[in-house]
Amino acid sequence: MSDKNLSNKVAVVTGGADGIGEGIARTLRGRGAHVVIADVQEEKGALLAAELGENASFILLDVTDWDSWNNLVSELSSHPGHLDILVNNAGGGGFGNLDQLNVEEWRNIMALNMDSVFLGCKAAAPLLKADGGGSIINISSTNANRAWAMFSGYCAAKAGMTMFSKCVAQHFLETNANVRCNTVHPGPIETPNFKRLTAAEGAEQLLADWQKNNPFTEIGTVEDIGEVVAFLASDEARYVNASEFVAAGGTLL
Ligand SMILES: NC(=O)c1ccc[n+]([C@@H]2O[C@H](COP(=O)([O-])OP(=O)(O)OC[C@H]3O[C@@H](n4cnc5c(N)ncnc54)[C@H](O)[C@@H]3O)[C@@H](O)[C@H]2O)c1
Repeated sequence: MSDKNLSNKVAVVTGGADGIGEGIARTLRGRGAHVVIADVQEEKGALLAAELGENASFILLDVTDWDSWNNLVSELSSHPGHLDILVNNAGGGGFGNLDQLNVEEWRNIMALNMDSVFLGCKAAAPLLKADGGGSIINISSTNANRAWAMFSGYCAAKAGMTMFSKCVAQHFLETNANVRCNTVHPGPIETPNFKRLTAAEGAEQLLADWQKNNPFTEIGTVEDIGEVVAFLASDEARYVNASEFVAAGGTLL
């Protein structure tokens, strides 16, 4: 793969100010893409965009809000004027089995991990199609592939958005839109969210359970996920569609 194989492509990375999203933004920029960091963290996102240079920008986006998505699309339509790559990365967990989760917590998990992907795909589709096609990459989780009672809402949301992504891919095929849609399923990755979870009360048990169910020798890095996303975003992946890419160091065996 060439070093600059994403030159002339415009990419939006949601949750791009921090964690895995930041790693993805840095990797895509490194491959030559114009990167739009879309996040609720205005200060951090703007600083990162400034660091990445003139081919990076920041747009304030709350992925759970339809008006916010419409605003992003209208800003993109004026500058840089087109869109080739959408990475729906913003998301996150929340402890809770059936007894522990209340209705509000359940709805918040669904909004952040499922509504966000629906809204993003729907809002960006016209722009992606307008310029000859593109690639949507939705960041799921190994929790979409294996049940874990204490993450019940998160597992359900990630599994739901994974299936929704396949339906989106099929819809674009049926409508000859030339837009691919794949999911990436990270295992444990060192990020602010991962640090919060592993520092919380009861986290030793959490990590012990995780190791028991999914033996891993190493926590992954945000760059590990950035590399997978960069491939799926590229023309080299033109025949890869409606797929689930597990990037978890073998933890889903
Ligand atoms: N870290 C892991 O071990 C891991 C494993 C599997 C999957 N994932 C998935 O990877 C993605 C990123 O996770 P992370 O660990 O980097 O999270 P993180 O909490 O460290 O970073 C998330 C980013 O999303 C932004 N964000 C949060 N809510 C938002 C909203 N409503 N609108 C726009 N931006 C918002 C935050 O400001 C932050 O920049 C998530 O979808 C998560 O479910 C993470």
